[in-house]
Amino acid sequence: MSGPLRLPPRLRALCERIPACEGLADIACDHALVSLSCLAIGRAQRAIAIDIAEGPLHATRARLGESMPLGLTLRQGDGFALQAGEAQVAVISGIGGAQMAALLRRDRPRALGVEHLLLLPHNHAAELRHALAETGWQVTAEWLVAERSRLYLGLAAVPGQMRKLEASEADFGRLAEDADPVLWQRWQATELARQARVADARRSAGR
Ligand SMILES: C[S@@+](CC[C@H](N)C(=O)[O-])C[C@H]1O[C@@H](n2cnc3c(N)ncnc32)[C@H](O)[C@@H]1O
Repeated sequence: MSGPLRLPPRLRALCERIPACEGLADIACDHALVSLSCLAIGRAQRAIAIDIAEGPLHATRARLGESMPLGLTLRQGDGFALQAGEAQVAVISGIGGAQMAALLRRDRPRALGVEHLLLLPHNHAAELRHALAETGWQVTAEWLVAERSRLYLGLAAVPGQMRKLEASEADFGRLAEDADPVLWQRWQATELARQARVADARRSAGR
């Protein structure tokens, strides 16, 4: 396989931000499109596509058949299922922010030699930002991508000390500085409405 793959906008924006590396970990890979794309354009020399379920790995193996790239490893595993030094860059896309936070706290990817994280959580960004700060990661960029009717948030982080976040910083991170202003307004409105719904539900439950 050679040349760029056709990717949905959220994955295209993610892949554009992946630094060139020898080893890429594509965690929660499902179809392994991120791995395949990075190998096809030479962004990564090797890619380890990890999924907790065998089904997606089996489907990817069957889909690729003989065109499976040499540098691709399909691995069944939970989270950062890596040997130390195997990957300098790790991507997690398409699971929730709270689940990503739990993986960061449990697996400690810095100790495995991961130097760049790129994350595309479905939700719970504040929980994820707290976990990054607690486990020694500094967010270097945040972006928003519109795909169909939905907005997707992306975060890039490198090892570094982040101070404990105030609640408002955890809610919106660097988006006001980094994101496209039109998408940022849309995101802010959606997020504030969501927070109001949560507060209402808590009030009704007497908490
Ligand atoms: C919605 S797909 C995301 C696919 C792709 N990364 C994307 O963003 O389009 C979520 C995948 O995450 C996998 N998954 C969920 N929890 C996981 C974990 N702890 N470790 C590895 N994979 C996981 C699921 O099996 C599923 O294939």
